[in-house]
Amino acid sequence: MTPEYICPLCQAPLSIFNRSLKCEHNHSFDIAKEHYVNLLPVQFKHSKDPGDNKAMVNARREFLEKGYYQPLANLIKDWYQEFGNVKGKLLDAGCGEGFYTHQHKTDSNAVCGVDIAKEAIKKAGKKYQACHFSVQTLSKLAFNDQDFDWLYSVYAPILEGEFIRVLKPGGYLLTVTPAKQHLIELKEKIYDNALLHDEDKQPIKQLTLVREERLNYKMTLATGKDTLNLLSMTPFAFKASQQVKDELAKSEGFECQADFLVKLYQKPT
Ligand SMILES: C[S@@+](CC[C@H](N)C(=O)[O-])C[C@H]1O[C@@H](n2cnc3c(N)ncnc32)[C@H](O)[C@@H]1O
Ligand SMILES: [Zn+2]
Repeated sequence: MTPEYICPLCQAPLSIFNRSLKCEHNHSFDIAKEHYVNLLPVQFKHSKDPGDNKAMVNARREFLEKGYYQPLANLIKDWYQEFGNVKGKLLDAGCGEGFYTHQHKTDSNAVCGVDIAKEAIKKAGKKYQACHFSVQTLSKLAFNDQDFDWLYSVYAPILEGEFIRVLKPGGYLLTVTPAKQHLIELKEKIYDNALLHDEDKQPIKQLTLVREERLNYKMTLATGKDTLNLLSMTPFAFKASQQVKDELAKSEGFECQADFLVKLYQKPT
């Protein structure tokens, strides 16, 4: 089972031709040696290298591989096993370097990951060759309508209209967003008055909320490198002074809460 990509320029189906994907209008997209395809035409880019840069992607890979967020990965895989069609098609929307994506691969499903950051997709494709990775923008997905049984988003933008379009009737959308106390101890190092995360985001109105759970646990970050890697994954990293970074770099056993809000929605049949 392979993803049914459509041309991001004219929406016609794409087929494999030598080492590229082509549509009937001769729009062509190369399949890279690192096992991914770039379906983000230049005219869709708002900057030269949109999304996370190489240093951010490397930091994320290093941090995630230490297992600090594995409890979250386990929870979302459990829900997939419980509710999802594990022989169906799954999309990780804003997949980064593929840490959660590849953990959803079974012998019988098809797993796709898309992200706007080329460096992240390159790293994902190279390491996890059983999954299908592509550079795309979530605001205009290069997939057919109703192609996916399961779509999830971990800390990435939620594009409700596009997500609903590519989901099959009865398909599921799982979202992971920050809960109130997420990384509060790290924030307190940076802000004088660290604010709690605002959880009151608009629910997804066109889908039915099936389950909601808060996952909160304490992490002990073994090394200063782990703490700096985590910092670089946050939107407040750029606020940290050199003095704070130097202090965190020397830290050992920094204690910090992970606090996630996980929601599962279903598209009406
Ligand atoms: C906080 S990271 C999360 C990555 C991954 N889900 C994880 O948890 O490791 C957010 C991701 O969303 C991607 N992203 C942001 N805007 C996007 C867009 N418009 N289209 C596709 N990906 C986007 C970024 O490049 C980044 O990899
Ligand atoms: Zn085309």
